[in-house]
Amino acid sequence: MSPGAGFLVCFLLTLALLGCVVATGLRARRALHLTCVGLTVAALGATIYFAYGLGRIYDLEKAGWITPVHHVLARTNTAALLLPVITGILTIRRPATRPLHRRAAYFVIALTVVTAATGGWMLWLAPKFAT
Ligand code: HEM
Repeated sequence: MSPGAGFLVCFLLTLALLGCVVATGLRARRALHLTCVGLTVAALGATIYFAYGLGRIYDLEKAGWITPVHHVLARTNTAALLLPVITGILTIRRPATRPLHRRAAYFVIALTVVTAATGGWMLWLAPKFAT
């Protein structure tokens, strides 16, 4: 699969799985929720793999200031995924933590939307390397 197609498929899969994570969390389907979290992390890993492939096709430096902004957001987003993971484990031990877990989850989802938008913007502006 080409990096472009691989990235698009894995990214859309990650978004769809995030939707399943939220839906199963809201319905307290705990086992399914945790399965969806695992699958989301795997799909995110594949998305990052293909994103590095895209970086070898597009001259991202030429997209300008949006490139470093997107890279900081992408790294922050990946690290921020730990927030719902930590608060989720806390919620299993102490159900009162559930509202905190919900806020952490919605924060990460909002950050994912902003990160995706800046990533799309960056690719839109970046020319392809001459082959
Ligand atoms: C290891 C990771 C995670 C664990 C252990 C976990 C665990 C939980 C638990 C125990 C609940 C309460 C429902 C129940 O009683 O079964 C819950 C709810 C929820 N989870 Fe997670 N979760 C994890 C990751 C995530 C992630 C990554 C997201 C989304 C980014 C997420 C989104 C939600 C949402 C939206 C709810 C409903 C909260 C509410 O409305 O009260 N969770 N999760």
